[in-house]
Amino acid sequence: MHQLSQQAFAARPAPYDDELDRTAVPLERRLVATDGGTIVGKLVIWELGQWFGGRRVPMGGISGVAVAPAYRGRRVASSLLDDALTAMRERGEVLSTLYPMNHTLYRRHGWEVAGAYPEHDIDLRALTDLPKPTRQVTVRESVEADLPALRALNDEVSREVPGNVSYGPEFAARRLLGHPGAQEGYVAEVDGVLTGALTLGHGDGHDERELYTLSVRNLFAADLDSELALLRVVAAHYPVARTARLVTSVSSALPLLLGERDLRPAGAGWCWMARLVDAPGAIRARGFAPEVDVEIHLDLIDPTAPWNAGPHVLRVKDGEGQLEPGGRGDVLIDIGRLTSLYTGWADPRRLAHAGLIGGAEESDLAALDRTFGGRTPWARDFF
Ligand SMILES: CC(C)(COP(=O)(O)OP(=O)(O)OC[C@H]1O[C@@H](n2cnc3c(N)ncnc32)[C@H](O)[C@@H]1OP(=O)(O)O)[C@@H](O)C(=O)NCCC(=O)NCCS
Repeated sequence: MHQLSQQAFAARPAPYDDELDRTAVPLERRLVATDGGTIVGKLVIWELGQWFGGRRVPMGGISGVAVAPAYRGRRVASSLLDDALTAMRERGEVLSTLYPMNHTLYRRHGWEVAGAYPEHDIDLRALTDLPKPTRQVTVRESVEADLPALRALNDEVSREVPGNVSYGPEFAARRLLGHPGAQEGYVAEVDGVLTGALTLGHGDGHDERELYTLSVRNLFAADLDSELALLRVVAAHYPVARTARLVTSVSSALPLLLGERDLRPAGAGWCWMARLVDAPGAIRARGFAPEVDVEIHLDLIDPTAPWNAGPHVLRVKDGEGQLEPGGRGDVLIDIGRLTSLYTGWADPRRLAHAGLIGGAEESDLAALDRTFGGRTPWARDFF
């Protein structure tokens, strides 16, 4: 599996290193395609959740999809994705998210662009000017025993942020702890209580004045003082490193604290794709604004997951959603487009203008907007 990944993704093949393996999920969460005992295709599915409407929706994060060059174009990846859908459905992972290199392949299987990956470059010189924390915050290196508290804190700060990811145990260890040679991990504490976390990696410098750049893999905190204390650790690399890459929402505290040229969008435009694996289950799992009260008659197109297909009635009331088979099937929509509405990414009127929703009256579009619209969904994880 490692050789296949190297062949598909690496500039220079490297020997296997568990700490660097982005796809090191338990074996039962990997799918392989074989020919006479040789692995010719693979993917893995991380055990994750994603926050929508204040609730954790069980999500399978697809990663490391690779097919041996001699076997490409023969539907190997397609078969793996079909099997992945069945496996996720059986495990109750009602939603699936991935970071696409290849939109065509995934769109054909029902995934659609559904949220942002807002990468920014920060000028570390500017970070050195940030205000000091007003309270005593202790920053120390993370240790394995911090993991349960780190997961709980990550969930607490992510809960109301649409699209943010909730980590299962394996992914949490990879994202939240340090790994010698791969990433540094730090935690912030106030009065002995864990209040924030930072993981950092090094990359190549831009020129001879910069020995390396920083990549902030994860940074979250329960309060501003803890966030400032962790940002000081990042700033303290200046001037050996002069820039850091960070994935953060444009509505985070940083743009309010820094000058507008100090935090710049980088690699803008890359998005994650998502798919409702079990549409009724996914509607049941997410939360909705309490004032939404709608009934919309949908006709769902989903040839690769036929259990979702056909007329369904979407009812949302008192913060709860239900999607039940039946009804008039007024609004014709495929599962990918419904997913990009579900996460709050797509605007239903724009989808209708683009011909991607059929049969919808203005009242249906307004109801879809009330049901799913809100802050732009984003996630900082790459898998
Ligand atoms: C992308 C990859 C996994 C596809 O595997 P595959 O087994 O050849 O894919 P399939 O034969 O199942 O392709 C199904 C459809 O996906 C689309 N597709 C597949 N590969 C594509 C490519 N490289 N570019 C654009 N579309 C592609 C096509 O629409 C194809 O249908 P068609 O053959 O009728 O045109 C394989 O090319 C690969 O390993 N590439 C390198 C790693 C990579 O990019 N992985 C995806 C990371 S997110």
